[in-house]
Amino acid sequence: MIRLYINVDHVATIREARKTTEPDPLEAALRAENAGAQGITVHLREDRRHIQDHDVERIRQAIRGPLNLEMAAIDEMVDIAHKTRPYQVSLVPEKRQEITTEGGLDVISQEAHLNEIRIKMADAGILYSLFVDPDFRQIDAAHRVGARSIEINTGRYSEHPDPGERVVQLEKIREAAGHARDLGLRVFAGHGLRVDNVEPIAAIGEIEELNIGHHIVSRSILVGIEQAVRDMQSAIERGLARRHPSSVRPY
Ligand code: PXP
Repeated sequence: MIRLYINVDHVATIREARKTTEPDPLEAALRAENAGAQGITVHLREDRRHIQDHDVERIRQAIRGPLNLEMAAIDEMVDIAHKTRPYQVSLVPEKRQEITTEGGLDVISQEAHLNEIRIKMADAGILYSLFVDPDFRQIDAAHRVGARSIEINTGRYSEHPDPGERVVQLEKIREAAGHARDLGLRVFAGHGLRVDNVEPIAAIGEIEELNIGHHIVSRSILVGIEQAVRDMQSAIERGLARRHPSSVRPY
């Protein structure tokens, strides 16, 4: 079983293009849940380019399942998390000029800071996850700062134009997932996943949660969000069917 979290940021991107009230990311979140999504993810960026503070509040109040709040490791976001109490926070790096999150967190260079945030989140009963590249050194650091889980960045795998390099990247993700699991970390994944590339990721036995946004929102425009979520779930099911029994290890 994989939990599918739908990231509704880009519903807000369309709304913010006109600075109006539609489309509403909350409505998208509720429809995604109705179609079977297990959770909802939003990234409240420091520049507020898509999701706004009121979206986080409203979505947190109205959805049935868990809210995963992606955020930068800064005091402002820690305070917002404390106030809104999402089920989980996922710390991501953030740069002002980037089009989207460009890589995993550099955990090694800010271990003390990330450990402090982890303690604050634990005090508030909020689960704590770190978005990292499939890099053993960063995963070891995530373990040292007490993260419960990591989300492995699948961006390089998803976006690389060369099929041979995609195989290399997939292998890195597989090895990273195994390493994280050996350390006792829970393993999630996301970035750039689509119906046509999610299957090999879902086949990795350690991965228990996926965060998928852009592809779902872009397909929603053409086929509706319910259909987009269902198609993604079918692709994930095909990946799950390919899992090797020995790679599925209970926690
Ligand atoms: N995971 C993280 C940490 C992200 O920052 C994003 C993008 O907001 C995603 C997953 C989802 O990526 P995509 O929109 O490409 O599906």
